[in-house]
Amino acid sequence: MPIDIVIGAQWGDEGKGRIVDLLSAATAMVARFNGGDNAGHTVTIGKDTYKLHLIPSGIIHDHTQAFLGTGMVINPESLLKEMDMLRRAGVIVDSGRLHISHAAHLITPGLKALDAAQEAALKEGRIGTTGRGIGPAYTAKASRSGLRMEDMLDKQALQHKLNAHIAQVNERLTALGAPALDAGAIAADFDRYAAELTPYITDTAAMISDGLEARQRLLAEGAQGTLLDIDCGTYPFVTSSTCTAAGVFSGLGIGLQPVEQVIGIVKAFQTRVGGGPFPTELSGELAGRLRGTGENPWDEFGTTTGRPRRVGWLDGVLLRYAVRANGLNALALTKLDILSGLPTLRLCIAYRLDGQVYARPPFGISRLAECEPVYEDFAGWEMDVQNIRRFDALPGAARTYLQRIEEIGGAPIRWVSVGPEREQVIETGH
Ligand code: IMP
Repeated sequence: MPIDIVIGAQWGDEGKGRIVDLLSAATAMVARFNGGDNAGHTVTIGKDTYKLHLIPSGIIHDHTQAFLGTGMVINPESLLKEMDMLRRAGVIVDSGRLHISHAAHLITPGLKALDAAQEAALKEGRIGTTGRGIGPAYTAKASRSGLRMEDMLDKQALQHKLNAHIAQVNERLTALGAPALDAGAIAADFDRYAAELTPYITDTAAMISDGLEARQRLLAEGAQGTLLDIDCGTYPFVTSSTCTAAGVFSGLGIGLQPVEQVIGIVKAFQTRVGGGPFPTELSGELAGRLRGTGENPWDEFGTTTGRPRRVGWLDGVLLRYAVRANGLNALALTKLDILSGLPTLRLCIAYRLDGQVYARPPFGISRLAECEPVYEDFAGWEMDVQNIRRFDALPGAARTYLQRIEEIGGAPIRWVSVGPEREQVIETGH
């Protein structure tokens, strides 16, 4: 079937945006199925860098139809800003090509304020959320009290629902010691958002199903990553949505059907923002070298929050776990160029726990914090690989490292990126 899925194989920020950009050149429909504006997908084309949070990166190709699926939680203010940003960059954003699911949930200033107040109350146990209201929005959804996109279609009913929603949120905010919000101001803003977004709100599930039946290709663009998935991730240090491949079907409201490629995006080293276990984490000079200074858009600082990311060696045990949890049948390895010049590279191939060695995480990934990584060391390479476009032109040491990642991960590396530009991607032929 003409479906491809792109999934983050780590803790998000793997560079999914650029692989989506590459694949959507030959795709009719591009869709986001989970999360909200906690995501930050960066795509660099020539001198232009696009930072997308809600709209699928594939919209940058003007032949695509872009969908925001049922499984998303959408802050209308951020969405309108992003639509404007794209228009200013010359991308056509109209209701002929951008479609928002009527069943996607809304993020309000109330839910954002709750996110901040709940985090503050957690003190040392903080998740380190992006502060975008994601957790409270999925909580409201699961407790059947959320507001949905379709609520924007009836102005009067929307005002009533918003008033009731803000009154409820204010009770909780006050209990957490946070200031209450002004329902009137929020309702006025939403009145404007509703007027602007109404033409885009539609039955995306039916449109995507019709497209698939007509053999149009669909690219489902995952946000965050496998290790942040609400079920398979490092709970409770996770996001609140399904980030794994299985979430595509419920998150787009389409039936189960065969998928052609389930592509896991893996960075050549491991990064994470926010709290939670990280067995291969590095500190000091080496960490600074992998993270970058923050001067370049591709340095390891959050696209959404600007926070410096925690960095470490690539964790092959967690990669194999992600391959299994998603059914990944191909990998794209990003940022290989960042490793150039390091004398030695390490790859975590197993964990040690209670005197035993484990090739897969013991007890799911619940005991990750106690696991000590077992490393295999590799010789590095000096050569700058940024201008290489053929796999066999990569230094031998780089090919050895990639081959071992394939063996440990259990899936072929089909693409390797060696720089931020659109053309800096090598097809390996694997
Ligand atoms: P939330 O999704 O804002 O609730 O944040 C929960 C956890 O997921 C925190 O550790 C965030 O830093 C992390 N997170 C959420 N979205 C992203 C992302 O797009 N990239 C990387 N980490 C993310």
